[in-house]
Amino acid sequence: MKAYKRILVTAALPYANGPVHIGHLAGCYIPADIYVRYQRAQKRDIKFVGGSDEHGVPITIRAMKEGVSPQQIVDKYHAIIKESFTRMNISFDIYARTSNPVHHKTSADFFKKLYDDGLFEEKETEQYYDEKAKVFLADRYITGTCPVCGNPNAYGDQCEKCGSTLSPEQLINPKSTLSDAVPVKRNTKHWYFPLQNYETWLKQWVLEDHKEWKNNVYGQCKSWLDGGLQSRAMTRDSNWGVKVPLPDAEGKVLYVWFDAPIGYISATKELTDKWDDYWCREDTKLVHFIGKDNIVFHCIIFPAMLKAHGNFVLPDNVPANEFLNIEGEKVSTSRNWAVWVHEYIKDFPGCEDVLRYVLCANAPETKDNDFTWKDFQDRNNSELVAIFGNFVNRALVLMHKLCGGKVPPLHKDVVDIYDNQLIEDISIAKEKITRCLEEYKFREALFEVIDLARKGNKYMQDKEPWIKAKKLSEGGASAELAQKEIDNCLHLSLQLTANLAIFINPFLPATAQKMLHMLKVVDKMLDWENAGSLKLLSVGYTLRAPELLFRKIEDTEIAAQVEKLRANAVNPSAQPVTEEKVKPVEDKPVQKPEIVYDDFAKLDLKVGTITAAEKVEKADKLLKLEVDLGFEKRTIVSGIAMHFIPEAIVGKQVVVVANLAPRKMRGIESNGMILMAEDKEGNLHFVNPENTIEPGAGVS
Ligand code: MF3
Ligand code: ZN
Repeated sequence: MKAYKRILVTAALPYANGPVHIGHLAGCYIPADIYVRYQRAQKRDIKFVGGSDEHGVPITIRAMKEGVSPQQIVDKYHAIIKESFTRMNISFDIYARTSNPVHHKTSADFFKKLYDDGLFEEKETEQYYDEKAKVFLADRYITGTCPVCGNPNAYGDQCEKCGSTLSPEQLINPKSTLSDAVPVKRNTKHWYFPLQNYETWLKQWVLEDHKEWKNNVYGQCKSWLDGGLQSRAMTRDSNWGVKVPLPDAEGKVLYVWFDAPIGYISATKELTDKWDDYWCREDTKLVHFIGKDNIVFHCIIFPAMLKAHGNFVLPDNVPANEFLNIEGEKVSTSRNWAVWVHEYIKDFPGCEDVLRYVLCANAPETKDNDFTWKDFQDRNNSELVAIFGNFVNRALVLMHKLCGGKVPPLHKDVVDIYDNQLIEDISIAKEKITRCLEEYKFREALFEVIDLARKGNKYMQDKEPWIKAKKLSEGGASAELAQKEIDNCLHLSLQLTANLAIFINPFLPATAQKMLHMLKVVDKMLDWENAGSLKLLSVGYTLRAPELLFRKIEDTEIAAQVEKLRANAVNPSAQPVTEEKVKPVEDKPVQKPEIVYDDFAKLDLKVGTITAAEKVEKADKLLKLEVDLGFEKRTIVSGIAMHFIPEAIVGKQVVVVANLAPRKMRGIESNGMILMAEDKEGNLHFVNPENTIEPGAGVS
């Protein structure tokens, strides 16, 4: 193993085109933060950089969907994402943005250096062009059928169903995502980075020199390298991004995957004048935390860029996680099948550590994993509350009850096998936890911490200080012995509690802080070198009264979350991830039971004109509409936000059920319902008069 002097940790820069969900946290931010906090406790020179990825197609598409500028999109989501990270205690030393000037300069200079060194191939090729929208269609601007698996919704750069990397030319029946137009081919010039020139070097560097990388990472790299590398365009036709720093490159920007990883360098520059210590010195250990969809970029393309540029360190490790599914289904932001971090924080205030715990204990470290709300509740109630919290609470309560609120002494003369076993357990735990953390095995490390608390509970059960307490009133020698045994039990239990604070700190920092408060000790106690010590709390020291570390999570809270997930999902009948084939949509029309005319006549159907529409805060599906019914204006809340941009439906006419009893949704009273037709794909269509008519007209 190489001797490193300093560590630079990066966590993938999330696209600022939407909030972050718990899959993001589990994939890279929580593992990165655990690693960083552990290294800080080890007093190592370490920096943790992150930021928002604000360029590329995901941003421009989102902007188009919301009918606003890309800048407005990134401003909005950067703020939301940053706040989520702060609240979850992800302790970045800097959280930057790729729209910052320093980043534009750094990435443009990087490109220029490769250009000046003659490392790009300049190629004019035919690319798909959308004549309606007047843009070239790269990456996600184009969809079509995947040539590998037949998925009809594959993107121009990737099929999300089978994972194949694609180029737009490979798609069968290509279609523009902007206008639905069938694209035509047009000539355009771009700068290509010849990855194949680095193939031999990459094979050596990854496959020979980094055999220690995680299997999932190594395996993906190997299959890429075995498949052979090709030149890759590093520029795009777009107005949003880092301008290509060359004359006559009007309308060309750097490919987002060229500029984004350089964002790690520019963030470090923003953080410290000594940025080059972290990037240009061989004795820096660079570690990239990412999710599995980023592996090729961090293990092959970016290292090749760094190598080509020269002067930069290469990653020592890229401990990528796999994906976290939710309740048995793949996370889908378009379907809104996700648990959003900013919503979790609102729904479970003060329970940030619980989420950190569950996402680490159940982290998709070696394979995709499933998050379920039931498992979340079980882990909280039976691990955090019943094991860890319970042990700490018992130790403090009993100490107050049986030892006068002070740390009791350890009486050497009555130390027994249980005491010795516990002492040994603490030191073995330190060794195991340290090794796991160094090897990026965070799940196992956390398991060891909880297991140590479990041993603490067992120890108390074996020592039974509450039984021994009964002898205290007997007086004489037996009372004296009983007190000594009680003292030993609580002395060691408290030293174990202090050790648990050190061990849990990288994982659950807020919990560690609460423990410090109860133990009346300073932050410094959390230094890793203190772990394993049995002298963390001095004899005779008074401690505070205990407060509960974790609260129980009730069935009703869990049911509400499951309900919320399903209610907000756009297409709740999506297939579970495990199912290989997409089932054909059943086209049998749904028939309701027969009614008589009087049933129908109860409905008051009227034509209304939508005069205003806006999104309902914190409800992705809902729009608040003002509808003119001629004789009066109504507020109607409707679940169509995933289908229509508010501005686009103002002025449209709809059929309204005018006499539907009022109903409150997200605090807004909805007076009526609008009718929409839904097609097989789940798209909504207006049901309205052929020509605009006076609002208020009856429908019968
Ligand atoms: N924005 C990318 C994603 O969310 C990750 C970029 S990581 C960086 O998948 F390396 F480019 F910074
Ligand atoms: Zn496919």
